[in-house]
Amino acid sequence: MTEPTGPAWTPTGPAWTARVLTLFPEMFPGFLGFSLAGKALEKGIWALDVLDIRDFARDKHRSVDDAPFGGGAGMVMRPEVLDAALEAARGREGGNAGQAVYLSPRGRLLDQALVRDLAAGTGMTLLCGRYEGVDQRVLEARGVAEVSIGDYVLSGGEPAALTLLDAVVRLLPGVLGNEDSPAEESFERGLLEHPHYTRPAEWRGRKVPEVLLSGHHDNIREWRKTQSEQVTRERRPDLWARRSRTNVEDKG
Ligand code: ADE
Repeated sequence: MTEPTGPAWTPTGPAWTARVLTLFPEMFPGFLGFSLAGKALEKGIWALDVLDIRDFARDKHRSVDDAPFGGGAGMVMRPEVLDAALEAARGREGGNAGQAVYLSPRGRLLDQALVRDLAAGTGMTLLCGRYEGVDQRVLEARGVAEVSIGDYVLSGGEPAALTLLDAVVRLLPGVLGNEDSPAEESFERGLLEHPHYTRPAEWRGRKVPEVLLSGHHDNIREWRKTQSEQVTRERRPDLWARRSRTNVEDKG
């Protein structure tokens, strides 16, 4: 077989790789398999490598957790087990799995800026905890970043890891079609998105805003911008305040 030549030939390095450390490997790719991320996984745009943390337990009971020092409820995942799992993840064949991230409600709050940074890297290693959490020392020793997907508590890191992966993978080149530009979405410009409407033009007595039927593209753009600003001011004063500050700085 001859190698393709000419401008269509783009040499490709290893695909962006997600390495996941979990006690429930069967939870991956989970719902990602039903989305564009699943299609992209099949196409090899990204790679998913799931490791079972229990495989790194050393005792005969294959135990991965122990009681917390100082007492209290729940169990804590043991540092030497997680350390061995993280070491194995680092040495795996395939793409460099980049930044290690532990999903935790104590972490830095996930936002679109962090999602963009992670998508721009070579991949990531996601550590999913269960029980009360993980021994803090292994996170420090291995330089693992802590990331939270929101101010609420899940029963494990897996749904958070899937959520983070969904957000990141859709930004990888070739995952979204050209027509689905992320630049127009909520958060990309520090604003929530304008509302959307489709046919019929009137439904249960509710009419689609007139301007959207006008075909006047400048007016439509202006209307969408105003809507976007209004909904952000009303629903997310925190985002609105940050945007106003940034704009002031831009002009200064
Ligand atoms: N694990 C449990 N709750 C979580 C959250 N809010 N974000 C990330 N990981 C979690």
